[in-house]
Amino acid sequence: MKAVQFSEPGGTEHIAEVDVPTPEPAPGQIAIAVRYAGLNFVDVLARRGVPGYATGWPYVPGMEVGGEVAAVGEGVDGFAVGDAVVAFTVDGGGLAETVVAEAGLAARVPDGLALERATIVPLTWATAVGLADAAHVSSKDRVLVTGAGGGVGDALAAVLSLRTPRCVVGGTSANSAGRLAAVYRPAVRDAEFGAAARKANDDELFDVVLESIGGDVASASLGLLAPGGRYVSYGAAAGQPDPAAPAPADLRRNNWTTAGFSIINRARADARAVGALIAAVFALAEAGSGWELPAPRVVAWDEAIDAHIAQAENRSPGKTVVAVRGS
Ligand SMILES: NC(=O)c1ccc[n+]([C@@H]2O[C@H](COP(=O)([O-])OP(=O)(O)OC[C@H]3O[C@@H](n4cnc5c(N)ncnc54)[C@H](OP(=O)(O)O)[C@@H]3O)[C@@H](O)[C@H]2O)c1
Repeated sequence: MKAVQFSEPGGTEHIAEVDVPTPEPAPGQIAIAVRYAGLNFVDVLARRGVPGYATGWPYVPGMEVGGEVAAVGEGVDGFAVGDAVVAFTVDGGGLAETVVAEAGLAARVPDGLALERATIVPLTWATAVGLADAAHVSSKDRVLVTGAGGGVGDALAAVLSLRTPRCVVGGTSANSAGRLAAVYRPAVRDAEFGAAARKANDDELFDVVLESIGGDVASASLGLLAPGGRYVSYGAAAGQPDPAAPAPADLRRNNWTTAGFSIINRARADARAVGALIAAVFALAEAGSGWELPAPRVVAWDEAIDAHIAQAENRSPGKTVVAVRGS
């Protein structure tokens, strides 16, 4: 079968389309004929060899898929060949014609939901719900999302809006600020980011910071936390070293909570917890709450490698999925 493969950790010269054997489901797994594969920044981190993402080399990327069940492994209940499903393929493999997924990280697509929309649920939207839960976001909160311009950023805007926070400021690059203005109060992530974010927040500090850029932005954001504030780190897209953590005395004095969130490590430790996040997103989409899962940008299989490179270079606003077997 065809697949996109990273031959070894490093630059874009290690990416190629290859022919690989079709995988068979082990006990507890299903095989999925992939129709759509979501592109995620975690694929970029995997290719670069950042620890914790690729499970071995060569590596087939793709942690988020939608398709039909092609085979059911021993001991799996609740899935039948031909079912329309999505899955968080935490060990990668999704940018291929067939992938195997842990049954606990897969879900049947609700009736009436287009498969390309459902495909962005098991990683991207499940992360947004997981983050809103981890930070206990409520209507009392002023929220800062430091990386608002990507797929998780789009999902967070929608998920947070359901909790009607007092305001949501979105940190972003200058060229995405205009696009985001409909759903965030944008703050450009330049040397003045801290001041810009605070200004966009009516000159107040933030009750919640959801931080995915790392380095200087993480450092500036820690300085924007209000007493009683919750700070959740979930990424380090800039690739800079982490800032110093607040001292325990500062945590106590300010009643601050600092936390981390990794849907990958949660899936590896507790598939059921991530299955619950996927179900929660589908429940929101089904609840007739006045919004629907947005349609991602769909690119053809032949454009998959270019689209991955564009994402790595932050030239890919919003959410993109690859039509692996055509639409
Ligand atoms: N912990 C978890 O469970 C989890 C799960 C999924 C994703 N993530 C993380 O969440 C982030 C977004 O993921 P995604 O799949 O939504 O990615 P995406 O669509 O490619 O969006 C990337 C985001 O990171 C920013 N960014 C990209 N390259 C950057 C760079 N070199 N320097 C500074 N900022 C950069 C973008 O800035 P703009 O806002 O300016 O466009 C955008 O906000 C990533 O850091 C990813 O690792 C974490």
